[in-house]
Amino acid sequence: MEHDAVAVIDFGGQYAHLIATKVRALGVLAEIRQPEDPIERFQSYQGIIISGSPSLSAFGEDADYTRAIYDLPVPILGFCFGHQEIAKHYGGQVIHGGREWGPADLQLVRPHPLFEGLGATERVWMSHFDSVTAVGPDFEELGYTLSGTAGERHGFAAIGSDRLRRYGFQFHPEVDDTVHGERMIANFVLGICGCRPTWTTSNYAAEIIDRVRTQVGDGRVFLLASGGVDSTVAARLLAEALGPDRLRLLHIDNGLMRQDESRQVLHNLAQMGLGAQTHFVDATDEFLTALAGVTDPETKRRHIGATFVTVFEREARRLGITDHLLGQGTIYPDTIETGGTRRADVIKTHHNRVPVIEDMIAAGRVVEPLAELYKVEVRRLGEALGLPPELVWRHPFPGPGLGIRLLCADGGEDTAALAPLGAAAAAIAAPYGLAAMPLPIRSVGVKADLRSYEHPLLLTGAGPWDQVVAAAGQIFQAVAGVNRCVWNLEPEAPPEIRPAAATVTRARLDLLRAADARVMDALRRHGLYEVIWQCPTVLVPLAAPGRGDEFVVIRPVLSERAMTAAPAELPPAVRAELRDALLALPGVWGVGLDVTSKPPGTIEWE
Ligand code: XMP
Repeated sequence: MEHDAVAVIDFGGQYAHLIATKVRALGVLAEIRQPEDPIERFQSYQGIIISGSPSLSAFGEDADYTRAIYDLPVPILGFCFGHQEIAKHYGGQVIHGGREWGPADLQLVRPHPLFEGLGATERVWMSHFDSVTAVGPDFEELGYTLSGTAGERHGFAAIGSDRLRRYGFQFHPEVDDTVHGERMIANFVLGICGCRPTWTTSNYAAEIIDRVRTQVGDGRVFLLASGGVDSTVAARLLAEALGPDRLRLLHIDNGLMRQDESRQVLHNLAQMGLGAQTHFVDATDEFLTALAGVTDPETKRRHIGATFVTVFEREARRLGITDHLLGQGTIYPDTIETGGTRRADVIKTHHNRVPVIEDMIAAGRVVEPLAELYKVEVRRLGEALGLPPELVWRHPFPGPGLGIRLLCADGGEDTAALAPLGAAAAAIAAPYGLAAMPLPIRSVGVKADLRSYEHPLLLTGAGPWDQVVAAAGQIFQAVAGVNRCVWNLEPEAPPEIRPAAATVTRARLDLLRAADARVMDALRRHGLYEVIWQCPTVLVPLAAPGRGDEFVVIRPVLSERAMTAAPAELPPAVRAELRDALLALPGVWGVGLDVTSKPPGTIEWE
């Protein structure tokens, strides 16, 4: 049957694909379109959604795209950059300023079909530098936001013209943190565009299996299986698509795994009936050699990814597996964060998207059954395929493993340059009873769809939790150069924290493994493992003179698709228990709890 459909114009925002996923979840087909596609490619849709953009500003020069979309007789809704672009196209004004990150409260000016079924105030998610400050004659302000604890007013957060059927949201309804974002998208797609929900995802597994069969033909696949949910679901789908004889699996211990992980993974694969075709290799030495002396996060990521391929190819030769395609459990965020759609910024290079793998993809040598999906969809698929719940609901663990949780540095960070940043943050933190100290190390974050590599702040004080999170939120709004806040789990900060030189070594990895095991154990014992989405433990080379050279950060987050995340609270007793357990490790002088949302931080520190 013919399905009603919506076009999503991908300007490269981190969330363009997520918009399409959310529309499809309503039962309406959504297709991604490029901004320069000819107008004919937009003509069969009942509506158009324009995404955000990391590199384009509606404030500066005119963006290059098919503006004839504005002549089409269908409703158009823009988010973030798309919102600003619509405002500007119809005579409004956009300025560089009025930035907001993270949560804000949308206040509706009047009831409107776009917000049907919702309250007068709605929690929404912001990530922008530019803002709309005036709208054209046909338009009205439908909502404004109050953000930060000061409740600063930001106008034109939602705008619209019912006559033209053009609308814009400064915020991102597609991310899970906009609490009723799905309802807003539904109001647009089903209500204003009038789409009929006839598109179903129920036979998605069958569709993927068909696609794999078409791609692989009568070939074979050698799958890199880390043992996480993605590669395990991919293994199950490939086994169904190709039959057991045309699938081989390789599990590599890269030395960056958690305590006892490889043994567990091999056990799980055997339980699933995939034991006979699974090969195992311990390549710890090779990975450690590749990482020796490297401190830059992106270089580490590229070395880890490239070493996977070297080991894979060598093992394939050794096993006489020569004609196989490389199978990977890549999911969509791996692609988008590596800048894998045409305009997206490289937030981080995921291990399965390093240049040598990109070349293999271009040559048609890679099979990735899950490349279109987010974690939550992979889990649903895993459940439908009958995988055990413990496996489906395991915390995600990144391919580069502990390698990206073991921060490295040459010890040369310029501490004097941090002073002004510390002063600005301290002024904001003081009314919350918190002292703020910039840390002489940098970590990766994402702001307005762009990568950032900036300093964390250590906040020291009694709390409570929500006050610390509120202070952090205000600091992110006001202080440039900070992309993370860490709450000190000790009552006092040391008088001085110095940069320390450190690289990836076996001893540091063992220390991090021990720290991670303690955190995971505590989460399980306190019934928090199921509540928290993921909880990296990070070893940070910072020296407190006379006390030690390593600082440990615990990073519990709540999320659904990993594109955004909120810091997860740990009860005071668990915080105290973890602090004591981690301080008992050799060389560890301090323990902090990361209280940063994504954006402006990312989940992992590198
Ligand atoms: P970030 O740190 O970007 O992480 O907020 C989002 C999610 O992706 C995981 N992650 C990776 N997973 N290969 C992976 O398979 C990678 O290179 C990689 N880097 C980050 C991260 O653990 C989180 O769940």
